[in-house]
Amino acid sequence: MTDSAILDIPGVSEKLELPIHKCTLGNDVIDVNGFGKSGYFTYDPGFVATASCESKITFIDGGKGVLLYRGYPIEQLAEKSSFLEVCYLLLKGELPSEEDFATFKHKVTNHTMVDEQICKFFSGFRRDAHPMAVLVGTVGALSAFYHDSLDIHNEEHREISALRLIAKMPTLAAMCYKYSIGQPFMYPQNDLSYAQNFLQMMFSVPTEDFRTNDVLARAMDRIFTLHADHEQNASTSTVRLAGSTGANPFACISAGIAALWGPAHGGANEACLRMLKEIGHEDNIGKYIEKAKDKKDPFRLMGFGHRVYKNMDPRAAIMRSTCHEVLEAVGDSDDPLLKIAMKLEKIALEDEYFIQKKLYPNVDFYSGITLSAMGIPTSMFTVIFALARTVGWISHWNEMIGDPKHRIGRPRQLYTGPTKRDFVDFDKR
Ligand code: SDX
Repeated sequence: MTDSAILDIPGVSEKLELPIHKCTLGNDVIDVNGFGKSGYFTYDPGFVATASCESKITFIDGGKGVLLYRGYPIEQLAEKSSFLEVCYLLLKGELPSEEDFATFKHKVTNHTMVDEQICKFFSGFRRDAHPMAVLVGTVGALSAFYHDSLDIHNEEHREISALRLIAKMPTLAAMCYKYSIGQPFMYPQNDLSYAQNFLQMMFSVPTEDFRTNDVLARAMDRIFTLHADHEQNASTSTVRLAGSTGANPFACISAGIAALWGPAHGGANEACLRMLKEIGHEDNIGKYIEKAKDKKDPFRLMGFGHRVYKNMDPRAAIMRSTCHEVLEAVGDSDDPLLKIAMKLEKIALEDEYFIQKKLYPNVDFYSGITLSAMGIPTSMFTVIFALARTVGWISHWNEMIGDPKHRIGRPRQLYTGPTKRDFVDFDKR
């Protein structure tokens, strides 16, 4: 295959020779960086066919339903690894030796507490504030506490910021929940695993010892792994764009949390559970399927469809089996919402509209039912998604900042507004 593409543009005398960069997996890319000299811009609203960067972190094959973290299939990591080991893998690119993993785990464990002053932040919010609004604010404010590590060009500062974020997100997430229900904040416990610690901070109370449930802790850990990274999705692209200006990592992660909140992205798990509750009974599924197909109706089947996956999202299949495990463990195996979800999935997958548009369940379809069965309120679903995705965001941020060639992101546009005109005084309008 040639290493460049030749573009013949009407009215441009010289043909454009555009370099082609080779991939290890997926699509090679045509480099249009020098395209501007042609007098044209490329145009790709929603970045459907645009590679914004080069990355070595995560690969998705949407046609085959493949997801690799640093080359390792998500199915193997979900079954054999742990979220903290996946954090190490995403951040550093390789699976750790036992010794390196023990050191990493020790560092994360010893950064799980937040400055006591942060507790005062919460009292400024109403108790019924959406936890995502609180999380955006508190994570963005973290940079106010870590003046010692904000030099983004210092590799050690980048590493300690990544550790602090991975370590403190469960603490902050649990604080958002505790604040919303009027219960006292619970401190992290160093003798618990990452997922057990999160569940402890969410559900324990000072008045009694907390009994961890290993099935729920394992399921929580797997949910974190499934949500850890997903290449250049909207929130990761937000973090990269914010980071390209030189903003500190806490501000960049806060921007990522804000982007994730949307129902078309990370907010879909919350929207999906609300949708299942609104459907209410299997007999109503047909009506909602028709609504989803009606172009005039903005309703979409939450938890279905994906920009990249045109096959089953591999995370959805793992999420489905985890959902059954959790429902079994909590003694809710005949959860009516699960029955509606499974019937909805079956009907949609057999419907010509969904088949033709290659719409399959995505990671958000079963996560809501699973989290709900674990006693986690709907408003906390996207907070948990943000907790897990923080390692992906900071890994991409680190990859970009660590690349000496990186530049500030500054897209151009197709301008179709008014041409130049003179100001008109009131009496002449
Ligand atoms: C996540 O990017 C990532 O990797 C995201 C994520 C991650 O890990 O970071 O995987 C997490 O965000 C998963 C997606 C969660 N969102 C939802 O479940 C919300 C419902 N899904 C849709 O909003 C939609 O499918 C998107 C937003 C996910 C994808 O939108 P696209 O790629 O822009 O696709 P599209 O809107 O252009 O849809 C293509 C066609 C359209 O019909 P036509 O205009 O071609 O006639 O499919 C239709 C859409 O109307 N369609 C749906 C549908 N999703 C797409 N119709 C009904 N129900 C749906 N859910």
